[in-house]
Amino acid sequence: MKVIKTIAAMKRTRLKLPKLVGFVPTMGYLHEGHLELIRRAKAENPWTVASIFVNPRQFGPQEDYTSYPRNIPRDLAMLETVKTDIVFIPPTAEMYPPRYNTWVDIEKVTERLEGSIRPGHFRGVATVCTKLFNIVQPTKAYFGQKDAQQVIVIKRMVTDLNMNLEIIVAPTVREPDGLAMSSRNTYLKPDERQTAVVLYRALKLAQKLWSQGEQDVHRIRQAMTEMIKQEPLAEEITYISIADAKTLEELHKIEPPALVSLAVKIGRPRLIDNIILE
Ligand code: PAJ
Repeated sequence: MKVIKTIAAMKRTRLKLPKLVGFVPTMGYLHEGHLELIRRAKAENPWTVASIFVNPRQFGPQEDYTSYPRNIPRDLAMLETVKTDIVFIPPTAEMYPPRYNTWVDIEKVTERLEGSIRPGHFRGVATVCTKLFNIVQPTKAYFGQKDAQQVIVIKRMVTDLNMNLEIIVAPTVREPDGLAMSSRNTYLKPDERQTAVVLYRALKLAQKLWSQGEQDVHRIRQAMTEMIKQEPLAEEITYISIADAKTLEELHKIEPPALVSLAVKIGRPRLIDNIILE
């Protein structure tokens, strides 16, 4: 496994690689969800590059940029186990030197859900992904369904800007009890960790009601809300959304494919999860 720590070295290395390269961008503190993306990239490409970069430009001023979990030695050991070919760890000062002034802004799909509560978040994500795509020049890049809106935003950007790569989406990897894996789960205290599974339980409830014939979004949302409110440690439901899976427009009556997504604050972190009804 080759570890590359400058943009110039990554670009030089890319020039020597064959055409097909799979790429998995991450912010590190890896878990099985990230490793699944790498396994998939390895299976579909002769070369796989993973990046680790905690991107300051996608965190709001009140968010957890400085406390976001970081452990590069641990990440490298995990990346070795799945035989990652190349790990790119760019320095922040190289990614955003003084006078850095360019942003990639995607309209509409960034205005809802996470975008509405994290202003500028998707601008930061789109900008860093564009930079990473330009440096690594992958032919395929792998993203997790866990961050459903991120996938929609990145696909929109790649289409709108005629970028030369394909976006591949992999299913959400969950803990045995159903909690979606996330680097931010490390913030949860033991009792909060137990509560956190309620996000998945609420999503499964929505799926069950729908499969039993319920189409009224209001009633499904109500049932999910009641289930979550029974958990004392689930402090605050930021949103429960049932939306068109492509446009993210809120639905009144379920028409598949519909994206059911929610954000709930449990202890310190705000956790997100989603499923698609189709
Ligand atoms: P990060 O949160 O580290 O996630 C990196 C990739 O792993 C994303 O595509 C994310 O959707 C995926 N992922 C996270 N948890 C997952 C799970 N439980 N199952 C499947 N995939 C999962 O997302 C980011 O970083 C950043 O925004 C990034 C795209 C790297 C840009 O900075």
